[in-house]
Amino acid sequence: MIQLRRMTIDDVSLGMRLKEQAGWNQIEADWRRFLALEPDGCFVAELDGKPVATTTTCVFGSVAWIAMVLVDKPARHQGIATRLVEHAVQFLEGRAVQTVRLDATPLGRPVYERLGFVAECDLVRLQGTASTSRSDQTIALNVPDDFSAAAELDRQITGTDRHRLLKAMFREQPDAARAVLDGSRTIGYAMLRAGSQATQVGPAAALTTDAGCALMDWAFQQCDGQSVFVDVPCDNQPAIDWANGKGLETQRPFTRMYRGRPVQDQVVHLWASSGPEKG
Ligand SMILES: CC(C)(COP(=O)(O)OP(=O)(O)OC[C@H]1O[C@@H](n2cnc3c(N)ncnc32)[C@H](O)[C@@H]1OP(=O)(O)O)[C@@H](O)C(=O)NCCC(=O)NCCS
Repeated sequence: MIQLRRMTIDDVSLGMRLKEQAGWNQIEADWRRFLALEPDGCFVAELDGKPVATTTTCVFGSVAWIAMVLVDKPARHQGIATRLVEHAVQFLEGRAVQTVRLDATPLGRPVYERLGFVAECDLVRLQGTASTSRSDQTIALNVPDDFSAAAELDRQITGTDRHRLLKAMFREQPDAARAVLDGSRTIGYAMLRAGSQATQVGPAAALTTDAGCALMDWAFQQCDGQSVFVDVPCDNQPAIDWANGKGLETQRPFTRMYRGRPVQDQVVHLWASSGPEKG
């Protein structure tokens, strides 16, 4: 029998085991952040009393994300992911959310399509080793004060008010973020975070190619010689060109999907997604 319940901090070890099994890059701090951002909106499925699956949600006003849909291998193909995602969608409908988004793996996509999610764009996870090549960029980078201006730029580009996610990430690692200013106006920002397999570059957004390249060069200089993952929208050709120039290789595709009202965003200005968890 399948039963669903709220996820708690005691379930972080379950989440870590399932994400290891799937070969994902999250660390414990990511699970703790998911629970802190949406304590009533992260769920565990139990099969005959044994916890076997997870999902998380995060509400950004009228837009919400579903992520971390992970089912233990022996428990797959019994409808558990379908039940969990249906439950998460019901939770979000109860919070007056108008759009639910997610980044689907090829395995997850058919499950979401059956639940009414529609594909909207493609992203590619690129991986490689951050190279030390000196940047030709002459653009000055700024250490953001409290991240409000960068979060506002992010809102304009993503069509989603992600202040609370971005500020939480900034508070965790204030040194791992930079911005580009044009006069007093923020026109780009980038962040980094640790992963179990590689440093995740992102989120990063920029209104100009020069600003985007300068921020991505900065990110690579921070993790010189380390493994890196970058999730780039396929429609952002300058970002794809930058990554190709760094010798990054494709690891896996993601399909960004939505249910409900489409979000007006500008993926051409998104240089690196924050990861498949929250766009
Ligand atoms: C993707 C994933 C979450 C799916 O979990 P799941 O619990 O197996 O999903 P469901 O059982 O709801 O649906 C999977 C399939 O089983 C079928 N199914 C559902 N109930 C069934 C049942 N009682 N008997 C037989 N088949 C069943 C579904 O129709 C579906 O068919 P499909 O393979 O043709 O799409 C799981 O494979 C996983 O954890 N993968 C690794 C992580 C990942 O990629 N997560 C998705 C992130 S976007």
